[in-house]
Amino acid sequence: MFLSCLSVFKEVDFHIKSNNLKHRTKEISNKQLIVRRGQSFSLTIKLSRPFNITDGPLLLHASTGMYSSQERGTASIMSIPASVAISPSAKAVWKVEMDNSSSLELGILKLALTPPADAPIGEYILVGHYKGEEQLLAMLVVLFNPWCPEDWVYLPDQEERQEYVMNEKGKVFQGSGNYIHSMSWDFGQFEEDMVNICMRLLDLNHKHQKDPADDVSARCNPIYVSRVVSAMINSQDDRGVVQGRWVGPYIGGHTPSHWSGSHAILRQWLRNGFYPVKYGQCWVFASVMCSVMRFLGIPCRVITNYQSAHDVDANLSIDVYHADYGVREKPSRDSVWNYHVWTEGWMKRPDLSEEGKFDGWQVLDPTPQEKSDGVYCCGPASVKAILSGETHIKYDMPFVYAEVNADCVDWLVSEQTDGTKKKIWADTKRVGQNISTKSVGSNKRNNITSSYKHEEGGFT
Ligand SMILES: *[C@@H]1O[C@H](CO)[C@@H](O)[C@H](O)[C@H]1NC(C)=O
Ligand SMILES: *[C@@H]1O[C@H](CO)[C@@H](O)[C@H](O)[C@H]1NC(C)=O
Ligand SMILES: *[C@@H]1O[C@H](CO)[C@@H](O)[C@H](O)[C@H]1NC(C)=O
Ligand SMILES: *[C@@H]1O[C@H](CO)[C@@H](O)[C@H](O)[C@H]1NC(C)=O
Ligand SMILES: *[C@@H]1O[C@H](CO)[C@@H](O)[C@H](O)[C@H]1NC(C)=O
Repeated sequence: MFLSCLSVFKEVDFHIKSNNLKHRTKEISNKQLIVRRGQSFSLTIKLSRPFNITDGPLLLHASTGMYSSQERGTASIMSIPASVAISPSAKAVWKVEMDNSSSLELGILKLALTPPADAPIGEYILVGHYKGEEQLLAMLVVLFNPWCPEDWVYLPDQEERQEYVMNEKGKVFQGSGNYIHSMSWDFGQFEEDMVNICMRLLDLNHKHQKDPADDVSARCNPIYVSRVVSAMINSQDDRGVVQGRWVGPYIGGHTPSHWSGSHAILRQWLRNGFYPVKYGQCWVFASVMCSVMRFLGIPCRVITNYQSAHDVDANLSIDVYHADYGVREKPSRDSVWNYHVWTEGWMKRPDLSEEGKFDGWQVLDPTPQEKSDGVYCCGPASVKAILSGETHIKYDMPFVYAEVNADCVDWLVSEQTDGTKKKIWADTKRVGQNISTKSVGSNKRNNITSSYKHEEGGFT
């Protein structure tokens, strides 16, 4: 890129093709610099004069959001030579190194810049300062990095990264537990306008509208970001992407079964000025969420649970009321769906345990069902915690635990004693069966039931 010839900054080259290739983002764009945190990218600056260290340092200032600050980790100052003191309270400090192939007499600086592995993800601007001049050098996008061991979304296995981050094609399991069939789904997470779609999605969330400085700062954390995404995929209580509808007619939109990919939905949402796209059901919400997560760099997969409970009060009991004669049946909002689809995102949970007890797959359910902290969102809820029944921890554990473990209880409501009820039947095995996801590297079904629950006993 050529800059103004009056400037001391004459030219800057971001090596977009080679950087994006190294950062595994060339699938998204070869025109826009998109990098993953915790990994360096190269940059060549050509000054209009020799670079003389004694003239004072050259500063690079990276920042994201409208209210960036070093204390929030949303702004970082790099200097060459490293002579400028960084504030001790600065978070997410970027690094710069000068390559020894630079030629200072010609004013050519070859630099390697590294956003730290805990940098907020999002859109950044990079500004240069030298000899009293200030120059906007570039805009870039920083994403999560499952290849980087220091990143909370680090996924060690290359084949799993290929499947859960890079694969744009998926399978979603539907039908019923003893007649399972799959549909192909095109995630399309690397379509070029996904940058714009996903960045707007983050900016439109409630928390950003309320406190943009805090929200942008919190984007360093995949736990926070994935919870925000689960809220933004459904259109309830914000300008989210998909509007749900569970009975026809599907007026003014498409039936949920019309869709076979996420990008058509996300593109329509962008083009229609963030007006919710009609209509979706659980597999649509989950698949669209999976696309956004994979774009952002959080490993993600789509999960189908057969005989899935929706336990409104999360008391682990799906209650059906039968009447003693003459007494009307008491309605219950609890229900069992023949199948339900959600996503799992891969991340560490240092907020729950320092030993990493709850790291790994986390349930994130974007289908609007029950409010959580006043918003329709759900998770992340650790799959390991679901298996061990630790329902007291964040987020939404009782609800998710019930989806795979609730007991179905039939109650007999009697007339004489005015509404007292008697348990007449309980089925502890029915809910949560044949939990399925696409296998790594093939279209086969992977039965992951045992990661959610131990083998169960009989009927009570
Ligand atoms: C750098 O600047 C100093 C002082 O202005 C000068 O003495 C020196 O010769 C310069 N070095 C180069 C390589 O231009
Ligand atoms: C540049 O750095 C590399 C690696 O640190 C080193 O092997 C090489 O000798 C250096 N080249 C020059 C010209 O200093
Ligand atoms: C789950 O799969 C098993 C084995 O194929 C089958 O017997 C069972 O009926 C299925 N469960 C449900 C709820 O359909
Ligand atoms: C679950 O909650 C419902 C509604 O609040 C209640 O009727 C039912 O008795 C509860 N079940 C159990 C097992 O506590
Ligand atoms: C899935 O695995 C569970 C136990 O881990 C087993 O009971 C069930 O039959 C399996 N289902 C299918 C369809 O293979």
